[in-house]
Amino acid sequence: MTDEATETGPAVAARDDDWWRTGVVYQIYPRSFADSTGDGYGDLAGIRAHLDHLGPAGLGVDAIWLSPIYPSPGRDLGYDVSDHGDIDPLFGSIADFDALVEAAHARGIRVVLDLVMNHTSDEHPWFMASRSEPDGPYGDWYLWRDPAGRDRRGRPRPPNNWLSWFGGSGWTWDPGRGQFYFHTFLAEQPDLNWRNPAVPAAQLSMIRGWLARGVDGFRLDVFNAFFKAAEMPPNPRAGLHRQAWFRQRHLHDQNQPELADFLASFRAELDAVPGRMTVGELFGGGAETAASFTTDRHLVFDFVLLEQPWSAAAFGAAIDRVELAFGPERWPTVVLSNHDRPRHASRLARSVGERHRDAVAKAAAVVLLTLRGTPFLYYGEEIGLGDIEVARADAIDPPARRASWSFPWWNRDGSRSPMPWTPGANGGFTAPGATPWLPLAPDFATRNVEVESKDPDSVLATYRRLLRLRRELPALQAGSMRRIPARHRDVLAWLRVEGEAVVLVVVNFAPLDVAALLGNLPPAQGWTVAGGTHREGHAELGRDASIRLRPLEAIVLVRRS
Ligand code: GLC
Repeated sequence: MTDEATETGPAVAARDDDWWRTGVVYQIYPRSFADSTGDGYGDLAGIRAHLDHLGPAGLGVDAIWLSPIYPSPGRDLGYDVSDHGDIDPLFGSIADFDALVEAAHARGIRVVLDLVMNHTSDEHPWFMASRSEPDGPYGDWYLWRDPAGRDRRGRPRPPNNWLSWFGGSGWTWDPGRGQFYFHTFLAEQPDLNWRNPAVPAAQLSMIRGWLARGVDGFRLDVFNAFFKAAEMPPNPRAGLHRQAWFRQRHLHDQNQPELADFLASFRAELDAVPGRMTVGELFGGGAETAASFTTDRHLVFDFVLLEQPWSAAAFGAAIDRVELAFGPERWPTVVLSNHDRPRHASRLARSVGERHRDAVAKAAAVVLLTLRGTPFLYYGEEIGLGDIEVARADAIDPPARRASWSFPWWNRDGSRSPMPWTPGANGGFTAPGATPWLPLAPDFATRNVEVESKDPDSVLATYRRLLRLRRELPALQAGSMRRIPARHRDVLAWLRVEGEAVVLVVVNFAPLDVAALLGNLPPAQGWTVAGGTHREGHAELGRDASIRLRPLEAIVLVRRS
């Protein structure tokens, strides 16, 4: 443990067991974070070298979640795993992983892995054995089915109408076995048969291996797709839609009741040692579905907030929907960006104009860090990083390469560009002469960690201040949440309450000055601004509960009582 970590932040063992309820998680896309070898791909040693940016000396996040780092042919950039128990040489070795965990823990940062358990790579030994030996021990580990007869040309017909989210039928014919296998994603990502007890047993044993290495939690990729209906009936039709996926109701290929039992045994395994978090990535469905899978010990992402334009009406409705769905007894997550969606700095700036990008990024940071729930930050958002443009011909994201009118797909390369650390060559992401696997954002010379660290008004400086404020105000971490009226169409306000402590948050969504009038405020001698998007010059909250806000200003106030 370094001296700095002992002085400024307690180490992992000393903290509260349920850190994941009050803490903040930072998602790293390992290919894009920092390259220590000069091959143009980020790696584990690169992450280790930048932990001070994340630890108490920098942002002060509680955990990092690493998108998959296991050996993989890379068809879906690591979400096609060929060995769940090892590290892809692209990212380093198991020794590099152990060193990263140790260095993170020394700074009080937990390490959360991404578990891809719905499917494997078609190069996983389980699938290769399943494919070649139908009667062997792995024969029934995947979803193999006989064809539903032959078409007019004599070709085998898929067993039912189930689709791949990445386009086309979800069934691929395997001439060797003379059967189809099902895949929710690419044909190179066959889905496992979770109804075969050997499958969950193998997953739990793999999980125990990672826990023994000191891992603090897991994000479960598409967890609500693990179980499919046993008889595999066709999905019923839904309304008209350009994209085939949305022309059916996904009644039988996801959200099956058996999932709850697995989650319970999975959580029991984790709870053998206190302090381990789990979060499920919801595949399809809204806040209500997310809430239905949330338990006392298991978080679930919902992406309602992430789908909103930047307007008080849209955010207000989304916040209310999540609060209603989760109720006071379930703990939500708060997410504005991830590796599958456009970055919110770019996305939200579209609502108010690109010149307001930094201002929107700061106001959105106040929203992210003050709503009820565990916030998840996506690497780069703390500097206001935007999406990159990648020409269709250069797309790496596999579904983007097959996009068409009837299969619209946003190229996920856009939000996966290398992290700019310095204004120097390649933004300090990789060696000066190297070629990064994706281009850096065009503004990297001004939008990078080094430059923003020197500017007290940068997006980065604002994130650091807001994260500190969140650590100082327990009501922002664990408090209950209540929206209050602001009597202005561009303003939202809410309270976070924890015992006697009350925190008031007011956000101006408009790039204009506004005057709001807050209602239902709890009694107070007065309110003091504790932080927000701007460092100084905040207006006072009037005795009549009126407040003036500058364009895209958001403030956090505490009660003087
Ligand atoms: C999840 C991941 C996504 C991946 C897919 C298939 O949605 O977030 O990146 O492509 O699962 O594993």
